[in-house]
Amino acid sequence: MARKLIIDCDPGIDDAIALLLAMASPEDVDLLGITVVGGNVGVERTLANALAVTELAGRAVPVVAGADRPMVVELQTAAHIHGEGGLRGADLPPPTRTAVPGHAVDWLRATLRAAAPGSVTLCAIGPLTNVALALLLEPGIRTALDRIVLMGGAIGLGNVTPAAEFNIFVDPHAAQIVLGAGVPVVMAPLDVTHRAITNPARVHAIRAPGGPVARAVAGILDAYPSKAKFGGEGGPIHDACAVAWILRPEMMSGRTCNVRVDTGDGPSRGRTLVDWWGGDRNGPANALVLDRIDDEAFFALLTERLARYAAD
Ligand code: RIB
Ligand code: CA
Repeated sequence: MARKLIIDCDPGIDDAIALLLAMASPEDVDLLGITVVGGNVGVERTLANALAVTELAGRAVPVVAGADRPMVVELQTAAHIHGEGGLRGADLPPPTRTAVPGHAVDWLRATLRAAAPGSVTLCAIGPLTNVALALLLEPGIRTALDRIVLMGGAIGLGNVTPAAEFNIFVDPHAAQIVLGAGVPVVMAPLDVTHRAITNPARVHAIRAPGGPVARAVAGILDAYPSKAKFGGEGGPIHDACAVAWILRPEMMSGRTCNVRVDTGDGPSRGRTLVDWWGGDRNGPANALVLDRIDDEAFFALLTERLARYAAD
């Protein structure tokens, strides 16, 4: 039985691959909609990119624009990684599809309000502004959610500062609200995404089936700008790890522990304080934090699912 899924994202090169993975997996997930947020690039661009990626996939998934800035702090983007347009290397035409009118937070509330208890998984792979606002405005929507699977945070080093991972750094207040909302959370931090790194052989396997999706994803991976950080041959596909957990949770593992966020404006802003040793000084356990992944299984799944587009 396919699990009902909503993806909140900021496409974003790895968001795009995560969306393509989800849309290629109808036996596992029924993608109800995609909500977008300002993050890697501004929300106008994340909206256009989400529309373009669904068009590339040939899937008419509803796409709804959300918050253009974090709840409290100013938006800081990552165009140096994702390109000014947000999809460096994908070379996609502008979308002809249009967004669902209205705001993503209202769409999330209406969709979850109408859903059966525990029937929807929410996968959040950008800053958590939309998700936090929806939960604050209508706490009752928690009933519809079986869990929130988020890419974000770090047990160890961050990536945007030594302390913080980008999604949490951009909107630390939203992250703290989501982690404290009482919805079960599965967190895919940098510690797990940095253990599944592309390389030329893996990119070749993704490119091999041919077709526009293979070309776009291989183009993204070839153009990845900071391979040197990861040994020089490739880089992580952060957001696809969160979707892969929903499809095949057995390929990853971690620990359930307390996670809280530094919402201050000092050098540790956006730090996820992961109580890995199971303490409760910061509060009860509120997240399954993943730190291990079978990277061969991950790339086998990603390659197999992306190849399905070539057969379309
Ligand atoms: O730190 C990685 C995360 O930040 C990913 O979601 C990437 O898309 C960026 O949003
Ligand atoms: Ca993202």
